[in-house]
Amino acid sequence: MSPTSDLLATALAQSGFHPRLSQQRRLYEAAKAAIHQQRLGAGSKLPSSRDLARDLGIARNTVIAAFEQLAAEGYVITSKGSGTYVADLQAHSASMRGVGSAPQGRTASRTAPDVRLSRRGQELTSYAAGPQFEIQPFAPGDPDFSSFPFKLWQRLQNRVWREARNDLLDYGQSGGHLPLRQAITEYLRISRSVKVEVEQVIITAGTQQSLDLCAQLLADAGDTAWVEDPCYWGARRVFQARELKLRPITVDSDGMALSDKDLATKPRLIYVTPSHQYPTGAVMSLARRRELLEVAVRKDAWILEDDYDSEFRYTGRPLAALQGLDNDDRVLYMGTFSKVLYPGIKVGYLVVPPALIPAFRSALYDLQRPGQLTVQATLTDFITYGHFTTHVRKIRQTYGARRELLRRMLARALPASVTISKEESGLHLVVELPDSVDDVALAQRAAALDISVKALSTYYLKPQVRRGLLVGYAYCTPEQITDYGRQLGAIIAAEVQA
Ligand SMILES: Cc1ncc(COP(=O)(O)O)c(C=O)c1O
Repeated sequence: MSPTSDLLATALAQSGFHPRLSQQRRLYEAAKAAIHQQRLGAGSKLPSSRDLARDLGIARNTVIAAFEQLAAEGYVITSKGSGTYVADLQAHSASMRGVGSAPQGRTASRTAPDVRLSRRGQELTSYAAGPQFEIQPFAPGDPDFSSFPFKLWQRLQNRVWREARNDLLDYGQSGGHLPLRQAITEYLRISRSVKVEVEQVIITAGTQQSLDLCAQLLADAGDTAWVEDPCYWGARRVFQARELKLRPITVDSDGMALSDKDLATKPRLIYVTPSHQYPTGAVMSLARRRELLEVAVRKDAWILEDDYDSEFRYTGRPLAALQGLDNDDRVLYMGTFSKVLYPGIKVGYLVVPPALIPAFRSALYDLQRPGQLTVQATLTDFITYGHFTTHVRKIRQTYGARRELLRRMLARALPASVTISKEESGLHLVVELPDSVDDVALAQRAAALDISVKALSTYYLKPQVRRGLLVGYAYCTPEQITDYGRQLGAIIAAEVQA
């Protein structure tokens, strides 16, 4: 047996291949590994297929097929009459780089890949306020997954699949599944006072994607976006990624409060959460809504209205959307099923002014190739058969009770210098702390007890911040709220009184 046959025989015996791997593939893999490891050096001659087949006790055709594969991938060179030789891989890669051939048989020093991010990538990853997704007591924003009607959803989904509709397997076109757009149109007209025709509704993969589309289509790099301060980090991220200049606008109890200095600037986009400011919970007053609409017209700007959790209003009637007051087609309205169903569903909607319909539809298609039409069809049935309304009513009741319990537990423990947000909506409470309290350190102390609250100060862009904690309650059981609420109340009280 030649030394090369011997080497390949040993490699085959020691390789631990999957039992179902063919002989041809084993031989190919063993030879390839030997060439990479330079146990078979460049220029060495392989045995003839007949000799190797005999030495290894396999069919000659198997050897020929393995050699052909190695030759096709450039590991060996076969020349008629003179045999098969191991190719000089380094010479090949060096010549590809245009630096001449490396010495034969020596391991070329390997350069690590250049993992430097783009300028934009570096900037994006440098922002500290990224999400922490752990599902722990009091993490703000998460709905109660256990109240999702799994069985019902499964039944509706099965029915969609049973219909075996080819059209639902395609990409989504024309802004998404038409029956879902019709159902959303009706819902928005009745529940949110949105002025909308079905053509204006575009199904997206959630608000994050809606915001990104708006930023890409309506603003250029360097344009200014007015954002609420404090602000939803997801919106901030999108605008930063699209290289917009952010102008933080102070939020007070009536929502975004424009100063004369702000009014001297020219925004292209204005991002607001008027129904329930994120994260403070302020509701934008009617006067401010009117002012904002006027300013948008005057400045030739677009208002992006993020109506992310309007379904959760625990007392009184739901508040109407800002879009419903807009007579000048200045508002792009966006909603999501992340909160009211589950975040991973990744279905949201954007209502665009009529003049923008073609641009948004075609950009969505070109950039994202939207799909998930079977999910959209299931969701349509969920809404049109009345399950959505029932589900919202049920979880609203559950969350309302949990909110009250959390408020009671905290109020019992907290001194008078600490206030708990009073407005009656959303999925979290804001515990407002005196300026002297380091809310980031307090959140870290809570994390050590497996309590996941967020520091209010981290949502601000400007240096003058309010201190506080965002405490979510939606998915906590009453027992958890009682237990963890007591613990959280105790550490806040200790910090404030220290
Ligand atoms: C203010 C705000 N808008 C929107 C969303 C949801 O966005 P998406 O539909 O991308 O899940 C969230 C989620 O936390 C949010 O807090």
